[in-house]
This record gives sequence, structure tokens and C-alpha cells, in this order.
Amino acid sequence: MSKKFYITTAIDYANGSPHLGHAYEKVLTDIVARFRRLMGDEVKFVTGLDEHGQKVQMAAEKQGVPPIEICNSLAKEFQGLCERLSISNDDYIRTTETRHKNVVQDILQKLFDKGEIYKADYNGFYSVRQEQFVTEKEKVDGKWPEIYGEVVQVTESNYFFKLAQYQDWLIETIQSNESMIYPRFRSADVMQFLKKEPLNDLCISRPKERLEWGIELPFDSNFVTYVWFDALTNYITAAGYGTDEFEKNWPADYHVIGKDILVPPHAIYWPIMLKALDIELPKSFLVHGWWLSSGAKMSKSTGEVVNPLDLIEQFGTDAFRYFVTREMNVGQDSEFSIELFMSRYNSDLANDLGNLVSRLLNMGGRYTEGKVPAASVEEEPEKALKDLWSEVEVELMPLFEGFQFHKALDRIFTFVSGINKYAETRAPWKLAKSEDPADQAKLHTSLAYMAEALRLAVVMLTPVMPEISEKIRGLVGAPSFDRLDGQLVWGNTLEGCTLGEKAILFPRPERKA
Ligand code: MSP
Repeated sequence: MSKKFYITTAIDYANGSPHLGHAYEKVLTDIVARFRRLMGDEVKFVTGLDEHGQKVQMAAEKQGVPPIEICNSLAKEFQGLCERLSISNDDYIRTTETRHKNVVQDILQKLFDKGEIYKADYNGFYSVRQEQFVTEKEKVDGKWPEIYGEVVQVTESNYFFKLAQYQDWLIETIQSNESMIYPRFRSADVMQFLKKEPLNDLCISRPKERLEWGIELPFDSNFVTYVWFDALTNYITAAGYGTDEFEKNWPADYHVIGKDILVPPHAIYWPIMLKALDIELPKSFLVHGWWLSSGAKMSKSTGEVVNPLDLIEQFGTDAFRYFVTREMNVGQDSEFSIELFMSRYNSDLANDLGNLVSRLLNMGGRYTEGKVPAASVEEEPEKALKDLWSEVEVELMPLFEGFQFHKALDRIFTFVSGINKYAETRAPWKLAKSEDPADQAKLHTSLAYMAEALRLAVVMLTPVMPEISEKIRGLVGAPSFDRLDGQLVWGNTLEGCTLGEKAILFPRPERKA
């Protein structure tokens, strides 16, 4: 049985509408998933919604509706966004689904039976915003850091998961597995956290008087489980834990997450939960940075958010996907600005790519009866264009495999500019005025070269801009493909193909109704 390439995103909190940060993570993961499919892997790509916890319960109380109503409506919103973003996920998991509750209860019972969970009294501080217990040590200048919001004192009995005993094992595991966290420098954050001081055991229960909106502990109906214990488990639920499917999917190849949720949930709690259950660890975490707005993390609580749907509405799905991929160096932060968006849209998409396509179709219609002609000349301009492709082509695969998508797009657009330059040099519109057979041969060659070069450029744009790439293929008469095999080789594949009608792929926004 061959193992699938299993890739997941974080599951979004059901406590507000999606913003640019949520949309970006899905696009990034989708690009990896689409690329792997083109490389011949069988992919399982899962995203979803994290629906339990205090924030959702409080929002429901405020609105006077049952929590599930809020979740249902947000699930629709988030799933609608995935559709608008052309996300190719194979599953969408919601933590209120029965399949998930069953897995969470199953593993809680297993850990309890193994003696990994115990009951103890807790007397200390609790952060309502973070839904976690905090200690005096976390105070900065005698005050609780802003991220904790209101901190209250509580005394209660709770269940604890024996995290502390796995500390040395985890240090050793992460140290000996360099490729576990991408980018590598994030491993240092994990190590710093792990080596700072002894880990505390993790409180994995919340008494129902305080929180009802959660999954009940199977061994004590007075409690529900901690929202992170519940949420992290989604990765094995969706992989089919407890069924034959599981072996085909697990371990996950990549958990794609933002840098804020690496430590402690993904790098500490999750590996230890799996180890305690004798389940293999995920192979790697792909950790991206944040979209910032005026220098701060874009988030619901800080106010300034960009609604991805507005941008998609105005500029189209693929323009949005292009922008976020071109601007974000995976792992670093990136500042969003509408000026930058417009500049990329106008210069890269509308001018360079869009004009190239319409120029070719226009000239094909006028000079070669709407067909891709035969190439018969190979002089300096042709050689230069082919050489440029050879240079770009060898760089693309390692850039895609190494998540350097911003650089890959830069290289592809260098090639697109190269095609435009080639057109300027050959100036087919001038050649068309001559009846000399040598000029006619150059005219035909130049259109054939432009078409073939365009076909090649959009092969590797496919994972990033799936719809536009397919459209361009249709316009130059190139067939669709499922695998990359052979697609990047320069050839005469389009000779005789019918060119499409002149099309404007990236209309200037002001021209839109
Ligand atoms: N529910 C948890 C994740 C549980 S995973 C088992 C959560 N949800 S979230 O809605 O707050 O964030 C979902 C993802 O979006 C996270 O990976 C987070 O890092 C990412 N982003 C949220 N805001 C972001 C930006 N401003 N920029 C980029 N991504 C950020 O955390």
C-alpha cells in the first residue's frame, strides 16, 4: 500500500470571520498540495475549523444563540472562502463532528488507562483569553503580558497529562531531526523553550461549570477537554485514526502553521501526545510568518484586517494567490498594502503576462489565420530565449521543493519579460509588412517561439495560479496535464494548434463595472 502525501493546515478558530492570514495559509498549503500532485504523489490535503472553547461559548452567550449556530455559520464562511480561493482540499474537518469526538474520547481514555493522565488540585492563575493556566513566572515587569487578556485566580480539581517526563526525549528528538521544522531557525525557538526550565504537566480538563462547550472526558462527565488537546487531535481524526485508512495517511508529511502556534502546542504538546499514544510523529512542520498591517500582526483582536474576499472580488482569485505568494518569503513576516498589491497586479500580471498573451493572440489572428505556425529559423534572438529558459528551468524545481515560491515566481516572471523582449527584438508586426520569404519565416518563427515559451512559463505557474494557467493553455492550444513529466521541455508541441480569441486576462480595475 503506497503512502499518501498528507498535508494539513491549522484549523481556524470559529470566533470571527476569516482574514488575510487565514487565506494565506490555505493558499500556501494548496500550492504545496498541487505541486506534489503534479510530481505524481497521491495527496491528502485537509483543512478545517476549531469550534470548541471559551471564546465560542462566550460569543454564543453574548448573541443569545446556541454555540453550534455560530459554528455552522462560520463553517459556511470559511468553506466558502476555500472555494473562492480555489483550494483543492480533500477533506474539511470540524471539531464538532462525531468522527472527531469519538477519536478525542478514544485517545483520552487510552491515555487515562495507561496512567498518563492523573487528577490533582490546582490553585493558580488562568488566562481567559488564552484559555490556559499561567504562572507568576510569565509576568513581565510585574504585569501579565497583553496576550493573556484578563487573568483570574482559580482553585479547582483538574486532570493533568504527564508532559514533563517527556522533556528529554523531545529535546533529543528535535535535535536529532533537523528537517522536522522548516525554516530551520524556528527549531531554535523550540529548543529555547524546552531548555529554559522544566516543563509543567499539561492541564487537559476544564470543569463544566466554567466551560460546557467542549468534548466531555470519557472518564469524568463533570469535565470537558482543553481546546488545544481537542484541536490538535484533528490531524489524526482526518487521517482516519482507528480505521484502515490511517496507515495510508499517517504520519503527516507537513503540518502547515503560523509561527504563533508552533510553541508550545505543535512542537511540545502534539509530539508528546503522539509519543504517549505510540503513534509516529509528523514528519515536518512548515511554519510561515505573519501578514502585518501597520507593523502589527493582522488579527481579529487588533482590528485592522484585510478581507481577502474584497480583493478576490475586485482582482480575481489567481491575482490574489499570485500576490500573497510573490510577496511572502515563507517563514518571514510581510507587510500588506493595497499599493503593493496594485503595483504587482499592474506590472507583473496586467503588463507583463496579460499583454504578452493578448499580443500573441492578436498577431496570430492577423498574420497566421489564428494558428500557431511552424518555427524554421534559429538565430541569435531564438537562442537567447531558449538559453534563458534553460537557466530558469533548472532553478525552478529546487525552489518549489524548498518552499521558495516567491523566488520561483520571480524567475518565471523574468522569463515572461524575456519573451516580451524577444517579441520586441523580432518585431513581428514589422516583419508582417514584408513579402520576402525570409521575413515571413522569421514572422512565423517568432509567433511559434512566443507560444511555446508562454506554454512553458505557465507550466510552473499552475500550482500558484491554477485557473489562469489553464486558461492560457486553452488560448495557445496546449493540452491540460496531470503530471509535470516532460512538460518543461522546449519543443514544437503547439505547431498547428488553434489560438483562442483575443482575451483580457487582467482587466484594469477601473475598467471593471
Ligand atoms: N485554532 C488554532 C489552531 C489549531 S490547529 C490544531 C488557531 N486558529 S487561528 O484562527 O487563530 O489561526 C489559524 C492559522 O492562521 C494559524 O496557523 C495562524 O498562525 C494563522 N494566522 C492567523 N493570523 C495570521 C496572520 N496575520 N498572518 C498569517 N497567518 C496568521 O490558532
